[in-house]
Amino acid sequence: MDSYCVFGNPIGHSKSPLIHRLFAEQTGERLTYEAVLAPLDDFSGCARAFFATGKGGNVTVPFKEQAYQLAGSLSARAQRAGAVNTLKKLDDGSLLGDNTDGAGLVRDLIRNAGLTLAGKRILLLGAGGAARGVIEPILAEKPAALVIANRTVEKAEDLARLFADLGPVSASGFDWLEEPVDLIINGTSASLSGDLPPISPSLIQPGHTVCYDMMYGKEMTAFNRWASEHGALRTLDGLGMLVEQAAEAFLLWRGVLPDSAPVLAELRRQLAQG
Ligand SMILES: NC(=O)c1ccc[n+]([C@@H]2O[C@H](COP(=O)([O-])OP(=O)(O)OC[C@H]3O[C@@H](n4cnc5c(N)ncnc54)[C@H](OP(=O)(O)O)[C@@H]3O)[C@@H](O)[C@H]2O)c1
Repeated sequence: MDSYCVFGNPIGHSKSPLIHRLFAEQTGERLTYEAVLAPLDDFSGCARAFFATGKGGNVTVPFKEQAYQLAGSLSARAQRAGAVNTLKKLDDGSLLGDNTDGAGLVRDLIRNAGLTLAGKRILLLGAGGAARGVIEPILAEKPAALVIANRTVEKAEDLARLFADLGPVSASGFDWLEEPVDLIINGTSASLSGDLPPISPSLIQPGHTVCYDMMYGKEMTAFNRWASEHGALRTLDGLGMLVEQAAEAFLLWRGVLPDSAPVLAELRRQLAQG
């Protein structure tokens, strides 16, 4: 049976094995999928050992840049993102690196949440691995403006330069912004520690602005609580992004796009139960 995995450190919390097991059951694909705790100082050795027999792997924190280095070839979107979250062993034994995070986010926003990004003013908070992966697919939806704001402003500026040929993208510090926007996407890891990016509440137009946190949890994230308190029209978390990026990876590996809706519903149910 073909074997797949997710590499990360830590990895115990990963929902990817459950998601891919549900996808495999649903599509009738015969495969195994396990969580692999890769040593912090030897991701490539661990990945090479797995791929001696394994067919594909997801890659999560903190190995996405190392997976980018390891891949023998890259999809255009992984090349641009500078990060790989999906590896596939090709017939010649080499590894193809792809990045499905951005496609996952955009599908969650458009298909699951019913939003339109075309013509919208979008603020992306953060300039780390997750932010890098979502810029290209967001710009492909033709927003009116995409502003990347980051604590370390230089990193936001680098990204704005890197993606400038794809659409109206610019960089900012957190506290330079005041005008309301249509959509705020939190791609910082501040929520992991219950912190908030220090942005002005005036960015939220009450009853209009939608806020999306790539983080998710049993309880509402700190960012979404803040957004809700300041009148956001809707707050969405990153569970749908997680399932959708996995669906894209499954498509790359198996040539079948699973139906994400029942899997997302099951994860949501399990999350609520704790
Ligand atoms: N739902 C999904 O499928 C999915 C997929 C990928 C990632 N994520 C989530 O996205 C988040 C970011 O992941 P990542 O891989 O991009 O992490 P990363 O590469 O480590 O980047 C972290 C980013 O957060 C910023 N940051 C960290 N702590 C902050 C704080 N206290 N205040 C303000 N900014 C802060 C960093 O700013 P500096 O540059 O100034 O350090 C950087 O821009 C995580 O919460 C992760 O769980 C979700």
